[in-house]
Amino acid sequence: MELVEGYFDNNSQYWSEAYLQPQCINDFVLINRNKIAVDFLCSELKPTVAVLDAGCGAGMTTLALVEKGFFVQAMDISQKMLNLCQQNLANKGISPSNYVLSRANVIEADIPEKSFDGIAALGFLQYQADEHQALMTLNKLIKPGGILVISGPVKVKISNYFGLAKIYDAIKKWVRKSEPNKETAVLHQISTHYYGVARFRALLRDSGFQMLDYKGHGFVNFAVIGDWTSRGQHFLHRFFTRLSKFLPIHRFGNDMVVIARKSRES
Ligand SMILES: C[S@@+](CC[C@H](N)C(=O)[O-])C[C@H]1O[C@@H](n2cnc3c(N)ncnc32)[C@H](O)[C@@H]1O
Repeated sequence: MELVEGYFDNNSQYWSEAYLQPQCINDFVLINRNKIAVDFLCSELKPTVAVLDAGCGAGMTTLALVEKGFFVQAMDISQKMLNLCQQNLANKGISPSNYVLSRANVIEADIPEKSFDGIAALGFLQYQADEHQALMTLNKLIKPGGILVISGPVKVKISNYFGLAKIYDAIKKWVRKSEPNKETAVLHQISTHYYGVARFRALLRDSGFQMLDYKGHGFVNFAVIGDWTSRGQHFLHRFFTRLSKFLPIHRFGNDMVVIARKSRES
């Protein structure tokens, strides 16, 4: 967790600016992810109940949920992220009576069981060393029948040509003999898990959740094309996003947002 904390402390500003002054196409993908997650939560919960934003980052999901009427506990291991979260909520004039901010590792935090009606955990699970343990912890924190909305990067996706881009990456690395820069190397070290519909379904089932629905999104960072033209990226992202409204290809987007319910009996 120390590496995770250090990485996000160093890169905290990005997680505020990406949402507030979106520039590159990845920023718009993040904004879209937030919207999908908030819509999922609103589809199952009354917007008056208590929700945990696990790994809240600069607080953009927290902000959107508070604005809908939820009471939000925003938790992050990075103090710099929490400072930005506080600042972003204050800048929007949100009353501190609508949220609590806490700095902690969600997996080890001292929170009573069944504290929340829902949990949002966006861009969170891929950083947990033990995904099963992480999901079991989130399960304990949710009331029976409560809702989890979680996201994760997809393994088999259109932008890596369903996995074939590995060959291109290996050749590129060999030809250029280049190593990734220090921050990218740390990111590769801490973000170690990838998902698909079946994997999410199994992980959630094994930790006491039933997967209700999912939405894949984001068609960016196409290998080869990204090296030559960013215009190509924009075009392909727009093209596949439109296509995903008619064809069931969204599961092959870059990222997936999933909604699941904790069993009502537990
Ligand atoms: C990729 S960022 C996403 C931030 C935010 N959820 C969003 O979608 O904009 C992941 C955040 O999760 C936090 N994080 C990762 N693992 C954590 C853990 N076990 N406990 C608390 N925070 C964690 C990181 O510090 C970072 O701020």
